[in-house]
Amino acid sequence: MPRGIFITFEGGEGAGKTTQLRLLQEKLEKSGKTVVATREPGGTPGAEALRKLLVNGDAYDWDALTETLLQFAARRDHVQKLIEPALVEGSAVLCDRFYDSTYAYQGCGQGMDAKAIDAIRKAVIGELKPDITFLLDLPVEEGLKRAQAQQRYERLPPEFHERLRQGFLTMAKAEPKRFVIINAAQDAEKVAEEVWIATQKRLK
Ligand SMILES: Nc1ncnc2c1ncn2[C@@H]1O[C@H](COP(=O)(O)OP(=O)(O)OP(=O)(O)O)[C@@H](O)[C@H]1O
Ligand SMILES: [Mg+2]
Repeated sequence: MPRGIFITFEGGEGAGKTTQLRLLQEKLEKSGKTVVATREPGGTPGAEALRKLLVNGDAYDWDALTETLLQFAARRDHVQKLIEPALVEGSAVLCDRFYDSTYAYQGCGQGMDAKAIDAIRKAVIGELKPDITFLLDLPVEEGLKRAQAQQRYERLPPEFHERLRQGFLTMAKAEPKRFVIINAAQDAEKVAEEVWIATQKRLK
């Protein structure tokens, strides 16, 4: 059984990640693929327990390193118990946020050094990398308007979210083979079409 494809969706709050993941899932399933759709932080019972602290909780003031470690603790459980086994079985794994979000939120947003995140990432999940990462890029104001739930990260000031947006764009430009940058201000159908074309190209 050939290894499955690992696709992640990244971008700011309300950029359309969940919408696009669902649309791609439908298309892949129609084409006969087995799809595992998941999200971060979370995806396994252990990681969802940590998500409750990280996303739904009151804004507890962990320092950037502690928050990075919590994110990676959740990610290790998720990779070990769900993502890696699904890829080995040949499934397409679609993940709503992955480690690029840690570089954006804890790195660009909270000031954690990117080299330190690199070291933690390698220790925790080794060489695992997404095959494709869709960066849904949208002006911060538009994304915050779209995102309705006022969760912990969404309550942070617009300047914080602007640093994330620029951080994501810088990361995408540094790894052009893995990232596909998509203008998320377009209609959802148009965004989905671009996501589908890029996915098919990679599946060939
Ligand atoms: N291209 C689009 N144009 C306009 N509205 C959109 C578009 N894509 C999604 N939306 C709407 O914007 C809202 C946020 O979309 P979605 O939940 O997919 O974003 P998200 O990136 O997953 O957000 P979050 O960061 O909150 O998880 C939803 O109400 C969705 O219907
Ligand atoms: Mg979402």
